[in-house]
Amino acid sequence: MTVITHIEDLRRLAQRRVPRMFYDYADSGSWTEGTYRANEADFAAIKLRQRVAVNMENRSTAVKMVGIDVKMPVAIAPVGLTGMQHADGEIHAARAAEKFGVPFTLSTMSICSIEDVAQSTSAPFWFQLYMMRDREAMAAMIQRCKAARCSALVLTLDLQVIGQRHKDLKNGLTAPPRPTLRNIVNLLTKPRWCLGMAGTRRRSFGNLVGHVQGVSDMRSLAAWTNEQFDPRLSWTDVAWVKERWGGKLILKGIMDAEDARLAADCGADAIVVSNHGGRQLDGAPSSIHALPAIVAEVGHRLEVWMDGGIRSGQDVLKAWALGARGTLIGRAMVYGLGALGEAGVRRALEIIHKELDVTMAFCGHTRLEAVDRSILLPGTYPQA
Ligand code: GLV
Repeated sequence: MTVITHIEDLRRLAQRRVPRMFYDYADSGSWTEGTYRANEADFAAIKLRQRVAVNMENRSTAVKMVGIDVKMPVAIAPVGLTGMQHADGEIHAARAAEKFGVPFTLSTMSICSIEDVAQSTSAPFWFQLYMMRDREAMAAMIQRCKAARCSALVLTLDLQVIGQRHKDLKNGLTAPPRPTLRNIVNLLTKPRWCLGMAGTRRRSFGNLVGHVQGVSDMRSLAAWTNEQFDPRLSWTDVAWVKERWGGKLILKGIMDAEDARLAADCGADAIVVSNHGGRQLDGAPSSIHALPAIVAEVGHRLEVWMDGGIRSGQDVLKAWALGARGTLIGRAMVYGLGALGEAGVRRALEIIHKELDVTMAFCGHTRLEAVDRSILLPGTYPQA
């Protein structure tokens, strides 16, 4: 096997090991995938200023995200179906995050349940929630997060309707995969994955099956979303969640300065500038492009984070320089998990940390806290 030196190595290995429908689910955007590609491309266009003859000893990337100590400003993003990338995937990713010293966020649409992850980890994790039509089910889920000692709730605001991802429709995405001839042929080439899945009982939506009415079996994610997610979601509903939860609240999916102001008015602790990894509104700008205007609008009132397109520690540094006090990584984690399970997620975090640390040194800094946009080459980065 090749030595794993960057996230792209993990992506390639995951592509070989994970059944096509789950690999494609993670590694795709909606419609033309223009926004999905822009998320990465716009990071690459930002150039850094190299500085020399500056003492580089004793460096630290440690900061806080919503008051929580983190080894670097990176948290694991909530990703649906993570437990289909690798058996018991959410448990493995949560363990890797805990050992490394960054937060893990469990998706509503996860395979392992809140309780599964709570029993398998000791550091408090975060839970991501969608606004569903069934408020009783929502209240019950918030209660389960409290019982599991989750330390923050991440409410996703940009998926009340679902963006069309062509590959998911063509692959007939279901979990577990339906035993069609095409799927069986594909699974025959993924023996590790099959062996892992044969050894776990966690093969359906662990947070929903048996908890939310009408979810007795796995069906299409898109169909389920259309039925259950509340298209009338309003800021009053966000306030309802905040009140019920009573703890730290992070609002994810903000791309507009006006919405950022409304989120701050709501009393959120942090917002995530996010286009859902280019999976929702294709044609929206990249997240890194949208970030500066939002930081200018509300950066003094709450923590502004971002996600979308982060494949290296350099990307984390650029986001930080433009005012993001935190970042979330989804695909980089998924690739690590699909490639090598818990060890792969650990490797992804190590790679990103090392790239962040060394790049910071090249830019003449030893403490991430002191880094600002002066490390970026003027004219190459987006402005408010
Ligand atoms: C759900 O969050 C998805 O993007 O599929």
